[in-house]
Amino acid sequence: MTAVACTGLRHAFGDQVAVDDLDLTVRSGEIFGLLGPNGAGKTTAIRLITTLLPVRPGMVTVFGADPARRPLAVRRAIGYVPQLLSADGSLTGRENVSLFARLFDVPRRERADRVDGALTAMGLAEAADRMVKTYSGGMVRRLELAQALVNRPRLLILDEPTIGLDPVARGALWDKVTELRATTGATVLVTTHYMDEADQYCERVALMHRGRIRALGTPGELKAALGPESTLEDVFRHHTGDTFAETQGGFRDVRGTRRTARRLG
Ligand SMILES: Nc1ncnc2c1ncn2[C@@H]1O[C@H](COP(=O)(O)OP(=O)(O)OP(=O)(O)O)[C@@H](O)[C@H]1O
Ligand SMILES: [Mg+2]
Repeated sequence: MTAVACTGLRHAFGDQVAVDDLDLTVRSGEIFGLLGPNGAGKTTAIRLITTLLPVRPGMVTVFGADPARRPLAVRRAIGYVPQLLSADGSLTGRENVSLFARLFDVPRRERADRVDGALTAMGLAEAADRMVKTYSGGMVRRLELAQALVNRPRLLILDEPTIGLDPVARGALWDKVTELRATTGATVLVTTHYMDEADQYCERVALMHRGRIRALGTPGELKAALGPESTLEDVFRHHTGDTFAETQGGFRDVRGTRRTARRLG
């Protein structure tokens, strides 16, 4: 069974092509890592998959459903933790998760149990009634996972879930993700800039660069293809045109850096 299938996906913002003829298949039940440098098009691809951007041209299906024709079926199947913060600091953890439960139309009589279940699964039972502005970064990220889980999604999409977290908090978050996959069988599509995480936790990874998939396989396969002793970081550099390895600081890299600088203001 296929969780996500993309063929010939393309999306441009003005003349900036963000996703360029993208083909990608995520198998049901796997933890799939989408890797790539800043601006590679990862978040845009996710927005196309989650119905947040219109698919044209190309084709997406999520568990066989086409977001263009059955957006509700797709949204019901998905739990999404966006790259930018989605929790409200002036509410408690429980209130934030309850909000999502209402948003997702969880039946009223099931709501309290589901909210409790999601908070407990993310290790937030004790902190549930504290305001979120008192949480650590790691707790906020776990709360966002709880928000996404209240929907009991078959597909969990996490856009840089561990960015800015300390190593212990990163480990704790990944423990929750793997535990969740083991208990619910959910498929996980995750983006990260941490190659060690991708290597350790993702069954397959795709390297995206300038809107396209440049390499795809298990971390072991990708490393072996590059040579003995290669790390996933070497694979990343190889496929994304590292300054030293490939172009020795040519025009492409200067342009890439400028573009990043412009995006960050
Ligand atoms: N709303 C937007 N309007 C204009 N351009 C955009 C918009 N969103 C993304 N882009 C451009 O599309 C390209 C891909 O961006 P995207 O956010 O998908 O990359 P990313 O791989 O998620 O990067 P990062 O790792 O920094 O999150 C970039 O060149 C970006 O500047
Ligand atoms: Mg992004």
